[in-house]
Amino acid sequence: MNNKKIIVGISGGIAAYKAAELVRLFIKAGADIEVAMTQNATRFVTATTFEALSGNKVISDMFQHEGPDLEHITWAQGSDLIIIAPATANIIAKIAHGIGDDFLSTLLFAATARILVCPAMNSQMYLNPAVQNNLRLLSQRGITVMDPTQGVLACKTEGPGRLPDPEDIFELASALISKQDLAGLQVMISAGPTIEPIDPVRYITNRSSGKMGYALARAARQRGATVTLISGPTNLRPPTGVSFNSVKTAEEMRQAIMKYHHACDIIIKAAAVADYKVDQIAREKIKKAGNDLTLKLIKNPDILAQLGAEKKKYKYILVGFAAETQNLLQNAQNKLIDKNLDIIVANDVSRDDAGFDTDNNKIKMIFKDGREEDSPLIPKDQVANLILDRIKGLLDKRNAG
Ligand SMILES: Cc1cc2nc3c(=O)[nH]c(=O)nc-3n(C[C@H](O)[C@H](O)[C@H](O)COP(=O)(O)O)c2cc1C
Repeated sequence: MNNKKIIVGISGGIAAYKAAELVRLFIKAGADIEVAMTQNATRFVTATTFEALSGNKVISDMFQHEGPDLEHITWAQGSDLIIIAPATANIIAKIAHGIGDDFLSTLLFAATARILVCPAMNSQMYLNPAVQNNLRLLSQRGITVMDPTQGVLACKTEGPGRLPDPEDIFELASALISKQDLAGLQVMISAGPTIEPIDPVRYITNRSSGKMGYALARAARQRGATVTLISGPTNLRPPTGVSFNSVKTAEEMRQAIMKYHHACDIIIKAAAVADYKVDQIAREKIKKAGNDLTLKLIKNPDILAQLGAEKKKYKYILVGFAAETQNLLQNAQNKLIDKNLDIIVANDVSRDDAGFDTDNNKIKMIFKDGREEDSPLIPKDQVANLILDRIKGLLDKRNAG
């Protein structure tokens, strides 16, 4: 989102408060945000909130600034994306029929950027034929209309009309301004930890949060890929638009991966899969007795090695992760060769500021041909795009040769 300029247009609906969270998500991702509000929107939320969040002035009055600035033109033509969230039935009608009687509706006439409209209103209003016809007109003109979600609305009725969660709007918006260089590709990503039961109430697991794998899935989806995410237990919300498979143990993860691997162009194994599992899982809770307790662990299947062995047959690009606390480079290089990978992403998980359960990461990529590339300490979303850039480079090279 760095260097992206996005206009968030807010109209006068009850969901206007959710636009604050949307603006915060864009700011966090590094975008430059300008907010345009209808006069009615300012009756629901104040411009001050959005000025504080965006660091930019908010315009809600076509004539609020004296002087030569034609901001309805400069804003409209200097942005990468315009999002109307929430979009009232009224502003939807104005866009559809070419009415420009305030700042927001007028700037839309001059827009050269993509436009995303997020309707939010009472279900009866939303299903009204006039509103539906207007939304159809918008879609026909190339404006992206995001369907509202179902649920209990502010008016206490239930049905379609809720503004989607800000995270979902953010993800769709990100996809609209992302390059679509992975369109047509099938990508499978594994993420998170696995858990290996000891008895009905206890298990062995690891510190993986899943953040890196989810960031990869989100970025690949935004770049146009069809994404399957196989995830161990995490607290994360699956990215919008990915096919999500939830698993617990290493064996379940292996089975899920092997169901899809043959159809993939790219497989990225970011999950931290348990190397060992408990040999005999107790059927009942193990009771406290004696001073020590011995558990026998046996090896889990090596999913990455299996994928590496079958790579020749299915021709996918295979990327693995090496989380190490010592001899990072040597261990990663060995894994790259042993598992027949195209790239290994080495993570030094002994650092506090990168690796497991952090929002940032600093990685070293080692390629099959011996090249190495270090990333600075950057947000995992950016690391994800860097890894995908390099994978795309390998695919392009393969296709050219
Ligand atoms: C409490 C309240 C809540 C409203 N919520 C919505 C809404 O969610 N969606 C909508 O389309 N209109 C809603 N309206 C009606 C709009 O505010 C009204 O149509 C207004 O003219 C929209 O102006 P604007 O599109 O210029 O912001 C609401 C009105 C009130 C008083």
